Amino acid sequence: GFVDIADEALADSVRQGMDRVERLLRESVRSDLEFATRTSLHLVDAGGKRFRPLFTLLAAQFGDPDADEVIKSAAVIEMIHLATLYHDDVMDEATMRRGATSANARWDNSVAILTGDFLFARASRLIADLGGAAVREMAGTFEALVTGQMRETVGVGEDEDAVEFYLKVIFEKTGSLIATAGRFGAWFSGANEATIDGLERIGRIIGTGFQISDDIIDIASPAKESGKTPGTDLREGVRTLPMLHALADPDTSPRLRELLSRPLTEDAEVDEALELLRGSSGLARTRATLDEYADDARKELASLPDVPAREALSALVDYVVARTR
Ligand code: FPP
Ligand code: MG
Ligand code: MG
Repeated sequence: GFVDIADEALADSVRQGMDRVERLLRESVRSDLEFATRTSLHLVDAGGKRFRPLFTLLAAQFGDPDADEVIKSAAVIEMIHLATLYHDDVMDEATMRRGATSANARWDNSVAILTGDFLFARASRLIADLGGAAVREMAGTFEALVTGQMRETVGVGEDEDAVEFYLKVIFEKTGSLIATAGRFGAWFSGANEATIDGLERIGRIIGTGFQISDDIIDIASPAKESGKTPGTDLREGVRTLPMLHALADPDTSPRLRELLSRPLTEDAEVDEALELLRGSSGLARTRATLDEYADDARKELASLPDVPAREALSALVDYVVARTR
């Protein structure tokens, strides 16, 4: 996959775990309503990176990675993620996802919303098998996702710091689920408390970093690379870190300031803003911020037990910084 795992035994273990997760994912969305199966498989099959379940499986290497609960929790995390993508593409009016037509564009908003709900329902069944403590944990995570999305929709308040607000939103909407992915992997593998907490903290950092790189991709990666339409944040009027950093630089041109002051509706304006942002100090500074997150994650990694998975997790951190899709 996208992360090179040097250790042969570890690579085998992760491959086998991933195969089990894939099978469970597909099994879990099967419905006697054939249409529900089809709309659910739409994004399952669109070929995501499976970043979150991979993180869960690596976190499980600090205990027994083959435990059924590990596989279940990895599948649950990906199903919840998929559910939020169906809903996110409705809210963002996105037409493309993972290089495929988004569900809202292929069918309509109702179908996309209901498919997200269906996935959430099926994920909830699996979470119930993991026990009451897992249900409570997932409820908190889900609340964070929804609150982050609501906060993003409401926007920053007048006396709030825009960068702090942004960081809070992205931790909630993206970091929280990835933190739980790490926590679940370690927890259900039977790892000790300190290791479980460590993997949750690493998940928080790489999850927040993951969204920062997503926001760079929205500006810097062409559609054929990212599988999504560039400039979606500009159209939605979402102020991401590269934009905030550009606005904070006194040398930023009045034209870019003007373009960032409102949601953009014209293709030509979006293209112009993207061009200006690509050459801006805002993008460069955001890449530097991302490097700091990676350094923090590596520091956390160093406090974990020395098993081969630690090196693979370090490769995962490198990937978050370097990814373009
Ligand atoms: C992607 O952000 C969005 C999220 C990570 C979280 C969205 C959360 C919800 C929609 C909560 C509601 C969900 C349910 C199932 C009730 P983005 O738009 O920046 O990412 P993108 O570039 O991948 O579109
Ligand atoms: Mg979106
Ligand atoms: Mg969104």
